[in-house]
Amino acid sequence: MAGRVDVLLGAQWGDEGKGKVVDVIAPGYQAIARFQGGPNAGHTLIFDGIKHVLHTIPSGVFRKDVWNLVGNCVVIDPVVFLKEVKSLADAGVDVRPRLLISRRAHLILPTHRALDAASEADKGQSKIGSTLKGIGPTYMDKTGRNGLRVGDIERPDFMDRYHTLVAKHERLFGIYDHKVDWKPMEAEWLQAIAALREFTLVDSEHWMDQQLRAGKNILAEGAQGTLLDIEFGTYPFVTSSNTITAGACTGLGIAPSRIGKAIGIFKAYCTRVGSGPFPTELHDADGEHIRTAGNEFGSTTGRPRRCGWLDLPALRYAVMVNGLTELAMMKADVLSGMPTVRVCTSYRINGKETDRLPFDITTGVAPVYTDMPGWGALDPKLALPKEIEDYIRFIEEAVEVPIRLVSTGPDRTATLLREAQALVR
Ligand code: GDP
Ligand code: IMO
Ligand code: MG
Repeated sequence: MAGRVDVLLGAQWGDEGKGKVVDVIAPGYQAIARFQGGPNAGHTLIFDGIKHVLHTIPSGVFRKDVWNLVGNCVVIDPVVFLKEVKSLADAGVDVRPRLLISRRAHLILPTHRALDAASEADKGQSKIGSTLKGIGPTYMDKTGRNGLRVGDIERPDFMDRYHTLVAKHERLFGIYDHKVDWKPMEAEWLQAIAALREFTLVDSEHWMDQQLRAGKNILAEGAQGTLLDIEFGTYPFVTSSNTITAGACTGLGIAPSRIGKAIGIFKAYCTRVGSGPFPTELHDADGEHIRTAGNEFGSTTGRPRRCGWLDLPALRYAVMVNGLTELAMMKADVLSGMPTVRVCTSYRINGKETDRLPFDITTGVAPVYTDMPGWGALDPKLALPKEIEDYIRFIEEAVEVPIRLVSTGPDRTATLLREAQALVR
């Protein structure tokens, strides 16, 4: 029987805990395939008392016998990538034998990073809050049909192509008031390109097809989250790729009929890093408490994350555009000890109540809350307290999707599967 691709992605604004869940369920798959995004992502895995943060490399890398593929819609900064490889080597993991990189993946150049910085600086107050990793300019060059791809490094005229693109960027810098000096980054980047040639580059759509024909099951790992999707996120405060289930098809070259489960990862509350609308954002002691208890500081940039209550209209929207078949609720422990936990069930907009996420949530959206009793400490070895079971049931009924996994701490072992092994096929 042919294999299938399950998709795991963020159902909020990123940083939901995707890396942790991929690591937990990876042994149930033959390969983990990242399908979009780039070093703007920071996926954290913690086990045996050690923390690892991955940016480009899929989160299956610590699991024996699991292949890891960097898919065609991922954008790669070879410098960041090599640093990741090195830090994994320092931790005793040689990624090379089981890591494959798509030739179609686009390269982030030093000039892309500089353009990102110049564009953000020029936007001033209306800046996106980009991670400044060069993501936007790289995807712009991809859709503008100027980009350089990983496969291009195998061509004899690679350097000519590189200089042509850099010359284009040099002209582009002229439109920005802010100048960024990218030249000091070039030598390290070119060295990293040379090092990238030592990795296994593949025609990943064919590799995926071969695996699926051989009956292998693959987990597609998303980056960012649904509300940062270029199409369905809170535009323009979004990233530049498709973070949704459909993105796994274009990001890996697989047909929609290959998709099995669509697993949505969400926190028991909400966070957002960077600018943009956030209806349930808290500016009070509760928000501060969640930030501290949840250690809500960016894995890639260290920026404090904005915190707020769970937003069900937004989660329902994620269920809808992704066709989520199951959910994993993360960071349930962070709300432990709060006497009351609030859930936004609908929005009031211009005096009218709606449970739909509308076109524009920038202003005038007032969340309508249901208050629920909080819960005490959570122990993954024991049954969940009644209060959190009620919270879970409330969410499941509102979004009509089962919550199969509850995470009660950052460590791999602090994970509770509801209906044993339900996430793993
Ligand atoms: P990702 O980008 O979706 O992979 O998520 P990040 O790694 O950026 O952010 C999630 C953060 O929460 C990381 O610091 C994780 O170690 C941590 N984390 C994940 N699950 C839990 C949990 O259940 N409880 C707590 N307290 N922390 C968690
Ligand atoms: P993971 O995979 C959270 C946010 C940035 C900014 C916007 C655009 O770890 O969940 P970009 O650098 O893509 O131009 O930034 O998107 N952002 C993320 N927020 N988690 C991420 O990735 C993010 N990647 C980008 O903060 O608001
Ligand atoms: Mg992250």
